[in-house]
Amino acid sequence: MPSDNQSGIESILHENRTFAPAAEFAARSHVGSADARDAMRKRAQDDPDGFWSEVAEELDWFTPWSQTLEWKAPDAKWFVGATTNLCHNCVDRQVAAGFGDQTAIIWEGEPVEDGAPEIRNLTYADLQRETSRFANALKSLGVSRGDIVTIYMPMVPELAIAMLACARIGAPHSIIFGGFSASAIADRVHDASSKVLITADGGWRRGGIVPLKDNVDKACKKNDSLDHVVVLKRCENDITWHAEPSTEHGGKRDHWWSDLVDNASDDCPCEHMDSEDLLFVLYTSGTTGKPKGIMHTTGGYMVHTYLTSKITFDLRPDDDQVYWCTADIGWITGHSYIIYGVLPNRVPSIMYEGAPNFPEADRFWDIVARHKVTQFYTAPTAIRAFMKWGDEHPQKHDLSSLRVLGTVGEPINPEAWMWYHRVIGSECCPIVDTWWQTETGGHMITPMPGATDAKPGSCTLPFPGVDAVIVNDKGEEQPANTGGLLAIRKPWPSMLRGILGDRQRFIDTYWSTIRNADGEPYYFAGDGARRDEDGYFWIMGRVDDVINVSGHRLGTMEVESALVSHDSVVESAVVGMPHEIKGTGIAAFCTLAPGHAPDDALRGALRDHVAKEIGAIAKPDMIRFTDALPKTRSGKIMRRLLRDIAEGRESVGDTTTLEDYTVLAKIRESDEG
Ligand code: WT7
Repeated sequence: MPSDNQSGIESILHENRTFAPAAEFAARSHVGSADARDAMRKRAQDDPDGFWSEVAEELDWFTPWSQTLEWKAPDAKWFVGATTNLCHNCVDRQVAAGFGDQTAIIWEGEPVEDGAPEIRNLTYADLQRETSRFANALKSLGVSRGDIVTIYMPMVPELAIAMLACARIGAPHSIIFGGFSASAIADRVHDASSKVLITADGGWRRGGIVPLKDNVDKACKKNDSLDHVVVLKRCENDITWHAEPSTEHGGKRDHWWSDLVDNASDDCPCEHMDSEDLLFVLYTSGTTGKPKGIMHTTGGYMVHTYLTSKITFDLRPDDDQVYWCTADIGWITGHSYIIYGVLPNRVPSIMYEGAPNFPEADRFWDIVARHKVTQFYTAPTAIRAFMKWGDEHPQKHDLSSLRVLGTVGEPINPEAWMWYHRVIGSECCPIVDTWWQTETGGHMITPMPGATDAKPGSCTLPFPGVDAVIVNDKGEEQPANTGGLLAIRKPWPSMLRGILGDRQRFIDTYWSTIRNADGEPYYFAGDGARRDEDGYFWIMGRVDDVINVSGHRLGTMEVESALVSHDSVVESAVVGMPHEIKGTGIAAFCTLAPGHAPDDALRGALRDHVAKEIGAIAKPDMIRFTDALPKTRSGKIMRRLLRDIAEGRESVGDTTTLEDYTVLAKIRESDEG
């Protein structure tokens, strides 16, 4: 975000520049020219079935499809009637082709002892053995095809093993980011009716231990579907152990990961899964307080993430590449672009356990240099933090191995783009700004590094086969440089197939806002955007009550519910506000119950309370106490006015429907914190 006028002007200047891929880079990449890219896009548009079938044929299937796509809006079936297995395509396929000894995952732990971190290299053969053993361990706990297994783990190799083991036996996983709290775990386990949860005694983060098992124990008290908790020993952390089912813990019992796998056979064939069988559920925030369990299925997701990984990052298995995506596997970015899209491309994928600034602010650059990373994929919020920490940290290291830089999660401001280009990419690495969502499963709008001229701040052009448009609320396409709603007209392989247990919400959220003249629904992404005269997309941000904090999605209503669940808060309204590092920060306006003092002690208590209810990422950056919230005569909170206040702007909009306009003045005077 431009923080002052000067950088605002720079921002505009940078936005107007274009950066073409270097000729020698383009010559070696999968798609090496704008013409080749346009031909690929045209092919996908004219013959989507043929286009996607050809891609699918690069992967293994147990039985072929009878039809590429069956589309009855909003329901898509891709590769109808085919069977396959994603663990097979990530792992067994590589072993069978003679690549068992090649590295699949390079893992680096956070702690550094005597100057050296712990590193583990897992080959495809290792992954085949370990996923088979753990899959058998899961079976021994009664897990069978179709049962949803919840995973709440740190970024360790066993997380990758656990998810691939689930895919191996056709048990969909639901991975919960390790930063979420006990209540968030309880809600998600309950929603998915999971009987088995996999966790660890703890995980390392910035030199401290995240008490994952303790959080699970707290969640368990509230939950009744769970029978078994599998615990990996990672930190020698003190934990409470439930060897026997105890009523106080809802009748569930704990098992050590090592005990289960020590007794398990390493022979476990991959289940033949229908292309449309559920692969995983991943919860994400929406406009109401309850997170949505986004459902992704097997075949289409596999094909789309495979192709986008290959093209967007220019992955080539025989070119000494080392790919690193810094996301946590608990988010969709980690699912698609650390594991599922990358392993089938047979390029080693780095998994790093900890924080970017531990033990020092140069940790990421140290990793890039030591492992000779060729593709590096991170979020704008991280880039802004690196800028702030200073150029000396990356400059201490040899970053010359880098070839492609990627960003994801939120719009990247042109200054951050320029810094990334100059300081990390030495002005020679293409930057791929990838727009997509938990719901889209894979990249939707993105440059191709050897073919697309970049413009700082734009995610450029739709990926082949993605029919993205900017429309108004009547579904009419908008002319160039006119803002509107971002919509997708045609189905794509990795699209969500629904919200777990809530068909109506799926229809209402994504398929009811925009229709064309024939009444056909388009996928509504929830983002505002414009297209420029070259057809490039510029994402303007969410148009719903969802905010994007450090590239992580939160519903304002989730934070509001957490605040009002505290004794002191009667009513609250939460809005986004610009934040130098996070992109969007959280501003909370609260009215208090009698007898509570509006002071800093209460602010601290409320922040802790929100962290307990949701997770630390949801802590408000600013809390204002107020006697009343601005409302319309019909009682709707006027969020626009609160956004103006949070941003320190004078309200310019229409306030005539404001019920009690003195409220506004009172909030402005209220003490800020
Ligand atoms: C929302 C989706 C996709 C993985 C990470 C976030 C925003 C995402 C970009 C980008 C501008 C972006 C959008 C989108 N977003 N990528 N390159 N430029 N905005 O996944 O949590 O599902 O959030 O993130 O607002 O709707 P998510």
